[in-house]
Amino acid sequence: MKRREFVGTAMSAGIGLWAGSKQAPGWKRLSSIPTTQSPDSRIEVLIEEPIGTIAPEIYGHFAEHLGGVIYDGIWVGENSKIPNIGGIRKSLVEAMRKIRPAVIRWPGGCFADSYNWRDGIGPKTQRARHTNFWRDASEWPKDAPDGPWKYETNQFGTDDFLRFCRLVGAQPYLAANLRSLSAKDFYEWVEYCNSPAGTTTLADIRAANGDREPAKVRFWGVGNEAWGCGGNFTPEEYAAEYRRFTSWVPGYGVNLAFIGSGPNGGDLDWTRRFFVKLSERRALGRVWGWGLHHYSWNVTGGRTNDWQQGKGDAVNYRDEEWYELLSEGERIESSITNHWTVMGESDPEHRVKLVVDEWGAWYKPGAEANNTHLLGQQSTMRDAMLAGQMLDTFHRHADKVAMANIAQLINCLQSLFLAHENKFVVTPTFHVFEMYANHQAGQSVRTIFSAPRSSYTRNGQPATLRGLSGSASLHDHVLVLTITNPDLRQMRETEIAVRGAKVKAVKAITLSADDIHAHNTFESPNVIEPRDTRTTLTNSAVVYSCHPASVTRLDITLV
Ligand code: AHR
Repeated sequence: MKRREFVGTAMSAGIGLWAGSKQAPGWKRLSSIPTTQSPDSRIEVLIEEPIGTIAPEIYGHFAEHLGGVIYDGIWVGENSKIPNIGGIRKSLVEAMRKIRPAVIRWPGGCFADSYNWRDGIGPKTQRARHTNFWRDASEWPKDAPDGPWKYETNQFGTDDFLRFCRLVGAQPYLAANLRSLSAKDFYEWVEYCNSPAGTTTLADIRAANGDREPAKVRFWGVGNEAWGCGGNFTPEEYAAEYRRFTSWVPGYGVNLAFIGSGPNGGDLDWTRRFFVKLSERRALGRVWGWGLHHYSWNVTGGRTNDWQQGKGDAVNYRDEEWYELLSEGERIESSITNHWTVMGESDPEHRVKLVVDEWGAWYKPGAEANNTHLLGQQSTMRDAMLAGQMLDTFHRHADKVAMANIAQLINCLQSLFLAHENKFVVTPTFHVFEMYANHQAGQSVRTIFSAPRSSYTRNGQPATLRGLSGSASLHDHVLVLTITNPDLRQMRETEIAVRGAKVKAVKAITLSADDIHAHNTFESPNVIEPRDTRTTLTNSAVVYSCHPASVTRLDITLV
């Protein structure tokens, strides 16, 4: 069947068709999965229609001084019995190396706007102790003890973070304090990190602290959530602060990339007014990236929009909550395109790119691995689906999205790792990052998915979500195609055609679970793991069965 014929059939059969916009998902036990004899879905990869290079920085992470992320997560201390590399958890370093983390954002989040980088350098015994931004959060478990997660001890500071980045092969992205420090403190932090050895007092202090050579930090966040915890500014006020902070910052030969604090959710007005204000003063050239935060949290099917009431349980969820969470994730696509359009009003050449520097699932408290892990939560197959969907969306908009950072690395929100004392485990989200890493630096190409939409009941009413979705990238003669099937019950027999090339060989790896609530624990760390799966290749046409609630990667070798 030719593309046009298939499109016609798909439309009349009510099949969802899209090439980078809208759609969604569902679960079931393997034993009773209905299978189809002939393909009901189709994917067409148009290798001659490039979208853009997939920035490796899309595979970015975020580590904030929040609950168990730093203390108990990354930092265990040099004198700990827990295996460590200069105080940094060794198992974490080893696991991170497997996923090629391109960049890590630190030290916050909201914490960043209360942080003084000077407190975190120099001899550890002399470091200042301060009240952590998150100390009074309502989400703390009742029995949470005091400790560095409430009273910051600054044992993990700039030099430790930069060392962590070097150990795992990631670039640092430092978020500066705009709410409670000055522009001078900001450029002096740049000076501390980047000024050449022996040239400034701060370079000498850095050398005395162990790093003679400059770190050449490129990515700098100018505040965080400036509309909220970052200062409660209006866009115009923030624009004025942004201009002041970036008017003079020494470069030292580094092509500094400043990232502005974007809107609260989908607030286009914030983006428009900031861009207009900066353009008026011809200062838009000082914005490299525009931050978007996108949390998937409301699983109530529209029953409430309350930030606390709208959240669901991380592990025990109903089918409806599976679909609703994924549909929250889907909204990132319109957020990207809408903000992009608004940015284009002031920046028609689209020099400024989008940086989704916080994204992930956010559930209600109760599934944390330890009572010191504020906002800690388990990660199930649902989170793996969300991760696949989000990364695929970023690839489909590779011309717009220059970086993305999942929130957060360990022991918090949608984490790739959970750790407590000497226990450590990787989550299903980690596996998706490992599977998808092959996309990095590839050429994203237009890909058309034609599949039935997934049906479910939303607040008593029939609803649907996009069926299969995914993305494809070209790496010389290898095409990497990733596919998510969010449907809880339907196996999708899928025909895959590569337009403009012949297929020589294909390999598939998939992540799925008999029970969608399944997750890895310290006691049972291998419940969810990717496995090789079977594909059929006949005369350059690939047929693949997408398991319900699964994430798949196909490596397709082209002639
Ligand atoms: O990731 C947790 C918090 O969520 C961050 O500190 C803040 O930027 C956002 O609101």
